[in-house]
Amino acid sequence: MDTIGSLFNPAAVAVIGASHTPGKIGNSIVRNIIASGYRGAIFPVNPAGGEVCGLKCFKSIEDIQETVDVACTVVPARLVHDAVLASALKGVKYNLIITSGFSETGNIDEEKKLVQTARAHGMRIVGPNIFGLYSAEASMDATFGTGNIKPGPVAIITQSGALGLAMIGKTGVESIGLSAIVSVGNKCDIDESDLLAYLVQQQATKVILMYIEGIRQGERFIRALKKATRVKPVVVIKSGRSARGAAAAASHTGSLAGADEIVDAILRQCGALRADSIAEAFSWCAYLAHAPAPAAEQTVIITNGGGVGVMATDACERYEIPLYNDSEALRDIFAPVTPSYGSTKNPIDITGGAAAPEYSQALDAALAHDRIGAAMALYCETAVFPAADLETMLEDTHRRYSERGRPVLFAAVGGEDIEHAIVRLRKKNVPVFNDVYQAVACMGKLFEHYRQKRSRCDTFEDCAIDTAAIDAITADARTSGRSFLSARESRDIMRIIGLKMPASCVARSLDEALARCSEVGFPLVMKVVSPDIIHKSDAGGVVLDLHNSTEVIDAWQAIMQRCLAFLPGARVDGIELSAMIEPGVETIVGARRDPVFGPIAMFGQGGIYVEVMKDVAFRSLPLNRLEILAMMKQTRTYPLLLGVRGEAKKDIEGVLEAIIKVGALVRACDYISDIEINPLVVFEENAGANALDVRILLATQRKEQP
Ligand code: COA
Repeated sequence: MDTIGSLFNPAAVAVIGASHTPGKIGNSIVRNIIASGYRGAIFPVNPAGGEVCGLKCFKSIEDIQETVDVACTVVPARLVHDAVLASALKGVKYNLIITSGFSETGNIDEEKKLVQTARAHGMRIVGPNIFGLYSAEASMDATFGTGNIKPGPVAIITQSGALGLAMIGKTGVESIGLSAIVSVGNKCDIDESDLLAYLVQQQATKVILMYIEGIRQGERFIRALKKATRVKPVVVIKSGRSARGAAAAASHTGSLAGADEIVDAILRQCGALRADSIAEAFSWCAYLAHAPAPAAEQTVIITNGGGVGVMATDACERYEIPLYNDSEALRDIFAPVTPSYGSTKNPIDITGGAAAPEYSQALDAALAHDRIGAAMALYCETAVFPAADLETMLEDTHRRYSERGRPVLFAAVGGEDIEHAIVRLRKKNVPVFNDVYQAVACMGKLFEHYRQKRSRCDTFEDCAIDTAAIDAITADARTSGRSFLSARESRDIMRIIGLKMPASCVARSLDEALARCSEVGFPLVMKVVSPDIIHKSDAGGVVLDLHNSTEVIDAWQAIMQRCLAFLPGARVDGIELSAMIEPGVETIVGARRDPVFGPIAMFGQGGIYVEVMKDVAFRSLPLNRLEILAMMKQTRTYPLLLGVRGEAKKDIEGVLEAIIKVGALVRACDYISDIEINPLVVFEENAGANALDVRILLATQRKEQP
């Protein structure tokens, strides 16, 4: 089996639909392949024969005597299948189908047929609906872009073709060199996971940028992304953040866009850096491609203006950049280079009177100090420090920092001269930005990438689930097509997986309730049991803190009246009596089967305001303890577990156990679509946690395979 390497480094390329007419896509591709200096053989194919861009044109691909690794198909959609079959029979390994008019316009069956034909002959397809591929390794621009792609360290994988073409243009403006750019389009066969796997081991690629609209094989994507970010930074622009954006993305690509919270959580979990815009993504890529690995994170800001210093400090907080704050050491290091009216507190303000020598001295002083891990120099244009001097100073300083393997970056704010200097410096890979926030973000992303690399752990927690016992409990629901389990069934499942619930029983009548309340013990809680009422509190179906039989009688009548008023005709099977437990922190713990990403865990603030507070975090399952803790720490509920205002610390370990158990349950039983414990009341350390209410939903239809 061929590796994807020959896609990026083919010995020979055919263009099926090579047009004789300059300006047509099939002509531009041939012209770009030639112009980019591709060293392999190029075979234009067109039934009219003759020459295309000065090369002999073959009437059909069968007429080519030599082996062809890659074919670009640029004929109208109705002719693509024949071209795919002919190239597959010829032994082509990869077919880049440029043509539009397949699944993105509803022509799904034809697209499936292309894959079937290709697979039957061992050929792989990129596309359809793509602009092609550029590979610096082969010096081959098989796209219909504007050409002149500068080789360099950034690889781009893009789902949007037009945006990808525009990005090629922008890399030129931003002086970003490319190792590869691939358009995946409808990704009927090869997708971003296949490409990631190749690019991650490719020496020339230092950073990978992905533009994604919809993800299909989510679990595969997670595995590929996790592997990639262990080796190099992966910046992701995932569009469709808003509900409207997601709908546009779905209809645009014909693929399913996952809910944004899930996507965001998963990108974070996989160690990817999510950018909001192309400009942001490009500045991160440009910086990360050349910056050294930080040995320490303590950073200093050196500035000639207080305002930009404050802005940078705010940005450092946002991007989690720790500022070096040993005031004595800072005074020792920077007092010799700071005027008395400046400040040696970080940000170091060397004041508006500072010129190139003062900046150099301050930056060198920071470089000489080993506890300072990185430096950011901010410059506001002044008459005493003209742009011409700035250029040399930044270049020299950057070189000295690079030689020592110490990250540095610069922000310069000023007029036309500064802007021109920035452009020239960036061409030489000196990291200088005209915006303070943008500069700080780059340093933040550098730290974030290396931090996730250091703290990542690939093992995961699991626990054995007695699936035979769970199958038996759920058998009735599954055979009768019920989509959720009763309170009794859910409770039995909790017992099997080892999660504690308060003592309880279900009474079918008031008499039974009165007879059995001693089994549960006072004080107790009463909750309606009805297949029609899922949110019991909303229906007035829950009464707390009942201390005697009289209160049980009143509560019974109140619950019945309120529930029937809430939902006339609701079936009520009885009322559950359960022991009232000690107060604790109310959390929510859940797991669900996401249609794109598979099993997902959730943790957050529990109780009846879950949907209003939305203080929840998600992760893809399976998880290890570090990842579970990171998920918990992402919520505002976590500090409550640590204990606030003199309260004792809560049993965080108990929550971890609950997340591991519900996660294992959802992974082990694929017919369970959702499980939600709300609230999981967490007691003091070593006292555990108690699941007060559990909802388990079953998948009503089988997951559709992509
Ligand atoms: N084998 C090879 N070449 C063939 C052929 C065959 N069986 N049948 C026809 N051709 C030739 C045509 O004669 C023509 O060459 P010519 O200009 O020298 O006559 C060439 O292939 C192209 O065919 P044509 O019918 O002129 O199509 P087109 O160039 O107008 O459009 C596509 C073809 C693929 C560009 C068009 O169908 C398309 O999909 N465009 C959108 C592409 C796109 O945007 N992709 C996504 C990017 S992000």
